[in-house]
Amino acid sequence: MSLLDTARAVRENAHAPYSKFKVGAAIKAASGAVYAGCNVENVAYPEGTCAEAGAIAAMVAGGDTRITEVAVIADSPKPVSPCGGCRQKIAEFAAGDVVVTMATTDGIVQQTTVAALLPGSFDADYMSRV
Ligand code: THU
Repeated sequence: MSLLDTARAVRENAHAPYSKFKVGAAIKAASGAVYAGCNVENVAYPEGTCAEAGAIAAMVAGGDTRITEVAVIADSPKPVSPCGGCRQKIAEFAAGDVVVTMATTDGIVQQTTVAALLPGSFDADYMSRV
């Protein structure tokens, strides 16, 4: 199964009763393992979590810390783009050249990179004097 197909499949499990916007994400890690996540909303709205955050949490819990590929999918008019917070979360574990595949459920696919999604990002270098 492709990484995008994994994201498509896990999207079905999203808990999105408030936005009705289901998102699926899949991450390939350096070990070769694939981790999936979906958005999990909450009646206390700010407590909801994004699909990418779920996949990253699964990855770290699974013992991986390096991302080599990302795929995200939703039923949107154009390929769904990770939110700002998720871009920062992805960048924590991915090099700038890691490819992010963004897709719609009806088959539009677009590819970009972590660096293109998060230019000028805050990284550990800024803290080198601490
Ligand atoms: N959402 C994600 O899970 N990932 C994204 O990349 C964009 C937004 C979720 C959060 C919320 O549950 C719903 O989509 C609407 O914003």
